[in-house]
Amino acid sequence: MIVLGCETSCDETGLAVYDTNLGLRAHALYSQVDLHALYGGVVPELASRDHIRRLLPLMRHVLADAQLDTHELDGVAYTAGPGLAGALMTGALAARALAWSLGCPALAVHHMEGHLLAPMLENHAPDFPFVCLLVSGGHTMLVRVDTLGVYRVLGESIDDAAGEAFDKTAKMLGLAYPGGARLAELAVAGDAEAIALPRPMLNRPGLDFSFSGLKTAAITRFKASNTTPGTAAHMQFVCDLAASFEAAVVDTLLTKCRRALQQERLMRLVISGGVSANINLREAADKLCVELGGEAFYPSLEFCTDNGAMIALAGARRLLAGQSSGLEVAIRPRWPLQELSAVTANQPV
Ligand code: KG4
Ligand code: ZN
Repeated sequence: MIVLGCETSCDETGLAVYDTNLGLRAHALYSQVDLHALYGGVVPELASRDHIRRLLPLMRHVLADAQLDTHELDGVAYTAGPGLAGALMTGALAARALAWSLGCPALAVHHMEGHLLAPMLENHAPDFPFVCLLVSGGHTMLVRVDTLGVYRVLGESIDDAAGEAFDKTAKMLGLAYPGGARLAELAVAGDAEAIALPRPMLNRPGLDFSFSGLKTAAITRFKASNTTPGTAAHMQFVCDLAASFEAAVVDTLLTKCRRALQQERLMRLVISGGVSANINLREAADKLCVELGGEAFYPSLEFCTDNGAMIALAGARRLLAGQSSGLEVAIRPRWPLQELSAVTANQPV
């Protein structure tokens, strides 16, 4: 089955073709990051307008790359939520209309299920069951994944998502939006033990997270700094703060991952979503899994952040099992992961 996937939940227009026999055939991404950087964050109206501008040329581009004609598509998958309502509507409508014109089924995909399945784009993909740490700009959650569509949220952030805390701290350090990756680059030149920062909620039982206090502690330390901007001492202080902040986030995330793996008696840990691109997080997760006798899995770096490939894959798995969505396009800006239906291999549901 050959499926076109379409992602427009936030500020990336992602298109991809996934073949259930051959794997990923082609993918293309247009990031609006420069557009929103001017405003220090995503402007929803501008995001929708830009998706409209990019969608069809990118669709044509990805089909040409896959050397396919639209008539060779067996299905079309689109992100229906969670995300920005206007942005979701652009991709959902374009994808649904294409499927209608081709007379093939369409499927509304949950964006976080896309992230959760993204490691399955790799050659060395995890088997079920596993614990998944979903860490993006909008979500931080630990999920027990028994099979496709059978998800139990074990814990989540009660305030900021990890990526959001990275971005807000980066903004305070004067880095351009979204600064998470740039903050991680600065951290390489810093000393992670230079500045003591809290590890939120580690002294409490349970698997929930909180990053707002850590972000505030980093901002307080930054404001209290007596180094002069432009000097080498100030630059070193910024790098030390970035490294200390990153270490606090990584420690917090992995302490909860350890608890989740032990509580659920599982050995496989999947980390996906934008923050899973963080190299220190990956190294610490590998170390944890070696210690526990398990294994950690991630998407390749290009599929950690939002992309069409993960949506095409998630949609293809459900379409192959006989699921499809109707002509009435219903987007879900808020959509609890637990509401998804289970899929048993290749059986229509
Ligand atoms: O999954 P994603 O593209 O969008 C959402 O669904 O939210 O995640 C984007 C988030 C941003 O907050 C970005 O700063 C963060 O992922 N991010 C990183 C890194 N690369 C991206 N955070 C920390 N370290 C990185 N290397
Ligand atoms: Zn995402």
